[in-house]
Amino acid sequence: MRVLGIETSCDETSASVLRGTGNDVTLESLVILSQDVHRIFGGVVPEIASRQHLTAVLPVIDQALGDAGVTFTDLDAIAVTHAPGLVGALLVGVAVAKGLSMTTGVPLVGVHHLEGHLFATSLEHPAAVPPFVALLVSGGHTMLLDVPAWGRYEMLGRTRDDAAGEAFDKAAKLLGLPYPGGRHLEALALHGDPARNRFTRPMLRRDQKPGDADYYDVSFSGLKTAVMLAAKASANLEIDGRHIARGFQDALTETLAEKVARAVRATGRTSVVLGGGVACNLSLISAIQERVGMRVAVHAPSPRIATDNAAMIARAGLFHAERGAWAQLDLVATSSADIPGMILR
Ligand code: KG4
Ligand code: ZN
Repeated sequence: MRVLGIETSCDETSASVLRGTGNDVTLESLVILSQDVHRIFGGVVPEIASRQHLTAVLPVIDQALGDAGVTFTDLDAIAVTHAPGLVGALLVGVAVAKGLSMTTGVPLVGVHHLEGHLFATSLEHPAAVPPFVALLVSGGHTMLLDVPAWGRYEMLGRTRDDAAGEAFDKAAKLLGLPYPGGRHLEALALHGDPARNRFTRPMLRRDQKPGDADYYDVSFSGLKTAVMLAAKASANLEIDGRHIARGFQDALTETLAEKVARAVRATGRTSVVLGGGVACNLSLISAIQERVGMRVAVHAPSPRIATDNAAMIARAGLFHAERGAWAQLDLVATSSADIPGMILR
């Protein structure tokens, strides 16, 4: 099957063509247009995002088809992100996908953005297929899942407040770094002294037991406050910023690594898959690998595939298309929804 993927849930306009069967897939093209305009505002402005998607989406799709050397007659499915995200931004992709499906006769698949992030890593690492423990760390979500098979996602834990990416972005802003701040903070932390600002590891205590509500859950709002206080107390943020960044990143990554290690122990899985924008953070990847040991494989995507892109939407779309899970023209764009196949505890 050959699938065109379309992603417009936040501030990336992206289209991709992918061909394959089951887990055997080939990426034929991937075009990602990042909306730089939001940097001026230090965050995504929904109305501007929608308008930019509107002008970019057709040229981006054209380019993806052209790069793959195909036309609509070569496609078996059009997969589009329909939830979750900014509803006005999602609507652009959904409306365009419906229009294209209607005029070309190529059937439509609706994809949940986070299911896309779960599939993304397998595009670069063929072994990143179920069963695995998944850590989804994006700008809007943070979840720890057990994935026995594609389409079956058992929720183990989640954030009680800020998502990991959101915490990175807010901490970065407090340190005067540009938006989105995750990768800038990672770069700054490289030069930081880990002993200078040792922040409390949030939601992490030795006496937590399996079954306790906070055994797998995380929370980052307190850590954000700690960064704010440290930044305020600093007489020279130019110098102290790197130590604060290091302290923040260490606390966040060590907390997530311990929660992942707990999930690996409880499920007996031998593979961990990271997904979402924060998943390419090298400090997070090495903290997890260190914590789970070398007998457990840790698969992480490159920055291009970790952050929002349409290849992951096409990949998840292929899974649903192969099962005949077609969407109809009543497909709606929704700002929040559970991943299909999610088992909540
Ligand atoms: O998955 P994503 O592209 O968008 C959402 O679905 O939310 O994730 C974007 C997030 C942003 O918060 C960004 O700062 C963060 O991923 N991010 C990083 C890194 N690269 C991107 N966070 C930490 N370290 C990085 N290297
Ligand atoms: Zn995302």
